[in-house]
Amino acid sequence: MCVLCSLTYELDLHNMSLLFAFELLLLLLALPHLFCASNSTQTPLDRQAEALPQWKSSLNNWSNDGLDSWTKASNPCDWDGVACSNDVLPRGRDQGDDALVVFNISLVGFALVGTLDRLHFPNLAHLVYLDLSGNILQGSIPSSIGALAQLSHLDLCCSILRGSIPPSIGALSKLTHLDLSNNELNGSIPTSLGNRTKLTSIYLF
Ligand SMILES: *[C@@H]1O[C@H](CO)[C@@H](O)[C@H](O)[C@H]1NC(C)=O
Ligand SMILES: *[C@@H]1O[C@H](CO)[C@@H](O)[C@H](O)[C@H]1NC(C)=O
Ligand SMILES: *[C@@H]1O[C@H](CO)[C@@H](O)[C@H](O)[C@H]1NC(C)=O
Ligand SMILES: *[C@@H]1O[C@H](CO)[C@@H](O)[C@H](O)[C@H]1NC(C)=O
Repeated sequence: MCVLCSLTYELDLHNMSLLFAFELLLLLLALPHLFCASNSTQTPLDRQAEALPQWKSSLNNWSNDGLDSWTKASNPCDWDGVACSNDVLPRGRDQGDDALVVFNISLVGFALVGTLDRLHFPNLAHLVYLDLSGNILQGSIPSSIGALAQLSHLDLCCSILRGSIPPSIGALSKLTHLDLSNNELNGSIPTSLGNRTKLTSIYLF
């Protein structure tokens, strides 16, 4: 009796853990779909609207008054220093407001103090124009800046950026204007820049 008892108990335990493992497996299989589903409802503009306030919150608080309009409740296209366009996304995907993206960030002389470390460039992949000159940006230029595949104008002049120029800048195939001058960069000029045939102005002094 006792033997039988403990046997069924063991079987039960065994079944339970099998069932549990099976449920866990189902959950694990479903997880990526759950995340994908929530990602696919996010427009490129949503991703930009997430990345920019995230960067703002990494900046010194006393320096970012100029970004007071950058609140999560508002439309990024209304933010200071930010401009949107529906001409950047490929034509086939033009569907009303889904095609609207931030394409221009121009924060010249905002006197922002901080780094570029928390600026999540992959979320800003539709940027055509980025001018952060005349701020007080420290640290290095993140190599993730190479994610800005549409970028034609890059100006990071007149800050205190250090370290070397990331070779990933050479991956920006649409770059026409590059200004990294008046920083504290060192090291060599990446050879990858030699491939940038559209580049018409380059300032590295
Ligand atoms: C800026 O202020 C916010 C809220 O007061 C705080 O969470 C954040 O850590 C501060 N950021 C910096 C860089 O001081
Ligand atoms: C981006 O905005 C700046 C500041 O308003 C402006 O000078 C520049 O021409 C704009 N760039 C493009 C490509 O529209
Ligand atoms: C560049 O400067 C950093 C310190 O900011 C230093 O660690 C590094 O060795 C320098 N690199 C070159 C190539 O001079
Ligand atoms: C330049 O581009 C060519 C062709 O895409 C590639 O094979 C080469 O590695 C590139 N050179 C550099 C220095 O990135």
